[in-house]
Amino acid sequence: MNKSLLNLPAGISAYRLPLTLLAAVCAFAISGCDNPKPTERNATEFDLVTTDDANEDIGTYILPQDTSILKEPNADQIFYGKRLLNETKRLLPDNVGAQMNCNSCHISQGKIPLGDPYINSHNFYPRVMPRSGKEVDLAGRVNGCFMRSMNGKPLPKDSDEMQAILAYMEWLSQNVPKNQKVAIKNAGSVDESLVGDPVRGEVIYQVQCATCHGNNGEGIKDSRGDIVFPPLWGDESFNIGAGMARTYKAAAFVKYNMPMGIQTKGLWGHGNVLSDQDAIDVSEFFTHKPRPDFPGKVNDWPNGNKPKDARY
Ligand code: HEC
Ligand code: HEC
Repeated sequence: MNKSLLNLPAGISAYRLPLTLLAAVCAFAISGCDNPKPTERNATEFDLVTTDDANEDIGTYILPQDTSILKEPNADQIFYGKRLLNETKRLLPDNVGAQMNCNSCHISQGKIPLGDPYINSHNFYPRVMPRSGKEVDLAGRVNGCFMRSMNGKPLPKDSDEMQAILAYMEWLSQNVPKNQKVAIKNAGSVDESLVGDPVRGEVIYQVQCATCHGNNGEGIKDSRGDIVFPPLWGDESFNIGAGMARTYKAAAFVKYNMPMGIQTKGLWGHGNVLSDQDAIDVSEFFTHKPRPDFPGKVNDWPNGNKPKDARY
């Protein structure tokens, strides 16, 4: 073998070539022939408690992987529900007025505590809601978010789409009996005695939020017009009837979930970098910017007890 014939790079002499080749063959053998095992990740687990005693730990709920949907007899329906929750605006343009998907607020497909999870929703309804003053079933609750958070129109309860959304939530509940629940909180808490300062809030917005949600709260779309970062105010945002339009509800969401992708501890997406005052200031600022009206507001809280941060 002649070095110049092989055109070897400087530093690799001809006699070392077989070694180099050997190393390459070994590397291939390790990666290509003998498949390495994927690293096992521990499944996320939460305690199960009874609905009347949050301290009585009676078992474990294991957060299911989406691949386990394949084992379900109605797998197609559950997958359709999952897609509808992720791509609501694109798949249901007639029912969604805002540039919003359900999972714009229900973080990671409704699987994250403090990020508006759907984990307990299947078992939690029907129940009497203070806002409507009457009993609401889960389809009715979903339609509440269609009309307010999505600034859109309700889905017929017997439609394939509504049934698919409910099927996803039922699957996520993993057969937890009706008198039990998964010991998680849907939302974090903030000190509601603090008063929001919208001027300070605007500064926080520009520094911590505007890169993703836009200088004018308009959000960011991709080249096909699909939502990348959802809007926080304006015609394409949620309307004043949404829970997120209320300062303290928004602040509880923002404190534990935003800025997205930054966190100091805990699960992915849990912001937890803003103080209560920061979260309340920035929420006071963006919730009070112009957004669509909600005509159905006249029927809300018929029995009184309207929360202090309601917008009407
Ligand atoms: C702008 C944010 C936002 C969007 C978008 C949104 N939601 Fe919600 N949703 C919330 C908030 C906040 C709550 C909790 C409300 C409260 O505590 O009053 C909630 C509550 C719910 C609940 C009740 C959860 C429980 O267990 O009590 C369900 C179910 C739900 N939403 C489904 C949906 C569906 C389906 C969509 C899409 C059609 C949707 N949401 C879109 C913010 C949103
Ligand atoms: C790195 C990008 C990023 C930053 C920075 C960020 N967000 Fe978000 N935000 C998102 C994404 C993405 C979503 C939708 C959730 C999802 O897709 O998982 C979202 C959703 C929201 C929502 C619910 C949906 C809506 O449009 O109303 C609110 C409210 C929100 N963010 C507020 C804030 C606030 C306030 C800040 C600053 C303190 C902030 N965000 C910073 C990326 C970001």
